[in-house]
Amino acid sequence: MAAKNKSIYVCSQCGYESVKWYGQCPGCGEWNTMNEEVKTVSNSSSATFKAKSVNVAKLSSLLPQDEIRYTTGMGELDRVLGGGIVKGSLVLLSGDPGIGKSTILLQICQHIGRNQKILYVSGEESAYQIKLRADRLGVNTPNLELLCDIDMEAICEYIRSDKPNLVIIDSIQTVGIPGLSSSSGSITQIRECTNMLMMTVKTLNIPAIIVGHVNKDGNIAGPKVLEHMVDAVLYFEGERHMSYRILRAVKNRYGSTNEIGVFEMLDTGLHDVENPSMMLISGRPKNTSGSCVACVMEGSRPILAEVQALVTTTNFGIPRRMTNGFDHNRLNLLIAVLEKRAGYFFGNTDTYVNVAGGLRIDEPASDLSVSLALISSLKDAPIREDVIAFGEVGLGGEIRGVGNCEQRIKEAERLGFKRCIIPYHNFKNLTFKQNIKIDIVPVRTIRAAFEAAE
Ligand code: TYD
Ligand code: MG
Repeated sequence: MAAKNKSIYVCSQCGYESVKWYGQCPGCGEWNTMNEEVKTVSNSSSATFKAKSVNVAKLSSLLPQDEIRYTTGMGELDRVLGGGIVKGSLVLLSGDPGIGKSTILLQICQHIGRNQKILYVSGEESAYQIKLRADRLGVNTPNLELLCDIDMEAICEYIRSDKPNLVIIDSIQTVGIPGLSSSSGSITQIRECTNMLMMTVKTLNIPAIIVGHVNKDGNIAGPKVLEHMVDAVLYFEGERHMSYRILRAVKNRYGSTNEIGVFEMLDTGLHDVENPSMMLISGRPKNTSGSCVACVMEGSRPILAEVQALVTTTNFGIPRRMTNGFDHNRLNLLIAVLEKRAGYFFGNTDTYVNVAGGLRIDEPASDLSVSLALISSLKDAPIREDVIAFGEVGLGGEIRGVGNCEQRIKEAERLGFKRCIIPYHNFKNLTFKQNIKIDIVPVRTIRAAFEAAE
């Protein structure tokens, strides 16, 4: 069958393909991202049809098979993965440079290497550099092999002959297939390399972890193509200047996607943080206006976080609204509700909202604490420091019920809070009102909530 080479243009941001070059990508609107790549097209139109056999199985006749998982030795990572790395799965680990991707992968080698053979492929660092880091992290397992190469064909060849129990590729942007004309890190290379790796490891039922870099917008470079192919996408977040790191599953075919894992980066590597609420609310200022503790559900566990608001008189005609860790549009909406329904005016103020500790909260249950922090800063009236609030704020100014109410209350009680402001709707359905030490205040409106919090 004859094949011919055809030049196409591919956007490095979104993967949009076109036969024509554009200055601005019609797919995502980014400028200067269309790169020329060569695609091999086979002339199969005149090919004769050949019968092929396929395997079909009746779902009901399949026997249940236990999935085999390798625990990583880091409880928080296992939690995000849904209980460990599933045998035969492909996991993508992504995050900003320097956030700790290589560190965590090297660390888990020590635990997994106790009884499994691991192949660590690095296209970024030399074996000597990795050795230095391994010494610092205390990784000395004899079952860890290093392969410092960037030729994907050679790597796959080695995997087939060596048959390790776990493969780590650090990173997918640095490896390439020599036969392809595009450079390493281009969409075509990333897609083809992942494909080749996937074919190799899936047939051998070997789990693999791929490190993927993010581009300047925080997306995984070569983004959607990779996310579709792998079984799980994990995302490392965190402020660069802080030692805390949050690992989030964006996609997981073998577990829940809303679990988070919290780590602390010390000089001996990353360590699990077993009590994230405690960490996130530590260092809270006392007796200061504009601070309120929220309780959000991250997967199956409730997490407390401090919401801070600062409301100041605006110096220019147009008020500024800024958020960090909270949705900007949601803030505008809450301010509109506070003005129209509760009579607090933010018209001539600059408003800033920040979630302390680098956490991002996007659950509607955090509306009430954000609103209380805003009112507290506006009126310069501190909220009692032993108060926690949660509830969704509706457009009518009403406080609406949220899920997992009892778990949230228990978490607040565990951390020593004395008063919990909750939606009235949730209060009606509470089962354990008697045997609890925390003072529960059900509220229907924002005004009532603020009065109870002051
Ligand atoms: P690294 O894992 O190399 O990041 P990535 O692979 O995601 O680019 O992380 C490197 C950073 O972590 C670097 O800034 C130094 C810091 N670090 C520590 O603070 N402690 C340690 O024990 C290690 C190994 C790294
Ligand atoms: Mg690295």
